Amino acid sequence: MKIRVPHIEWSEAESAPPLEPGTAHVWQLPMEASESQLRDHVQRLSAEEQAQAYRFVRPELTRRYITRRSLLRVVLEQYLRPLGMPLAFRFNNFGKPYLDGASPAARILFNTSQTHEMALMAVCREHEIGIDVEYLRPISEFRQLGKRFFTDAEQQEILSMPEEKQLHAFFWIWTGKEAILKACGIGISTGLKRASIGIRENGPHLDRLDRDLGDVRNWELRGFLPHEDYQATLATHSSIHQLQFLKCRVG
Ligand SMILES: CC(C)(COP(=O)(O)OP(=O)(O)OC[C@H]1O[C@@H](n2cnc3c(N)ncnc32)[C@H](O)[C@@H]1OP(=O)(O)O)[C@@H](O)C(=O)NCCC(=O)NCCS
Repeated sequence: MKIRVPHIEWSEAESAPPLEPGTAHVWQLPMEASESQLRDHVQRLSAEEQAQAYRFVRPELTRRYITRRSLLRVVLEQYLRPLGMPLAFRFNNFGKPYLDGASPAARILFNTSQTHEMALMAVCREHEIGIDVEYLRPISEFRQLGKRFFTDAEQQEILSMPEEKQLHAFFWIWTGKEAILKACGIGISTGLKRASIGIRENGPHLDRLDRDLGDVRNWELRGFLPHEDYQATLATHSSIHQLQFLKCRVG
């Protein structure tokens, strides 16, 4: 089987376009920052985040953390400002962040993922959303990882691929699992086998979900390549039928 994930085009965005029901926005947050931009970014973080930022030993990790957390705020504020809502976060028991406040702002949901120099954020109205991105790097022990964390069906799915495609298949399953479990709000803390991901011609597909997490038919997975070095999957409610890919030029 040849996997052909749909080609995506990023639109440069200096502000958030209106977020229509049935649409999700996927933002790419630029991780590069000059010294002066970094100073501006730091100002936007909470005292706790500022302390965390400087605990990283490697300076690039500090830069990525500060830049991502700052731009997350800048973009979310764009959605909240027209609603007259201040930005405030709350978290569920598994650490998933939500926007605090009464509706309608509370009905704007988001999720983020970061790896290497790529940070993505997804936003939609009314429905839970999850996103995961992975840096495409050689992983010599990916079959062993599959044995440990994947269902039998998922392992079969990988082994049925030509050898040179197996690592890509591994990453589709990995990002598919993380995206759906992040959309459900539990992350991977209660086990990666709670969802089983298949691979179709256009990328990852949700084959099975533990019953307490909902009905598979309510969810849709969409695999995409944000850049040739990265694989990503977005998990949305099945009523989301349109995606807009936005490269953040805000802030
Ligand atoms: C969420 C999780 C899957 C992240 O995996 P990862 O590949 O390391 O990181 P990613 O970059 O893809 O995603 C991180 C982002 O996901 C979001 N997130 C955190 N917990 C989440 C959850 N339970 N569900 C969905 N999203 C979550 C946050 O925005 C986080 O950003 P941050 O690192 O700036 O805080 C993993 O850390 C996890 O399973 N966490 C749950 C831990 C838990 O149960 N905590 C309970 C006590 S708080």
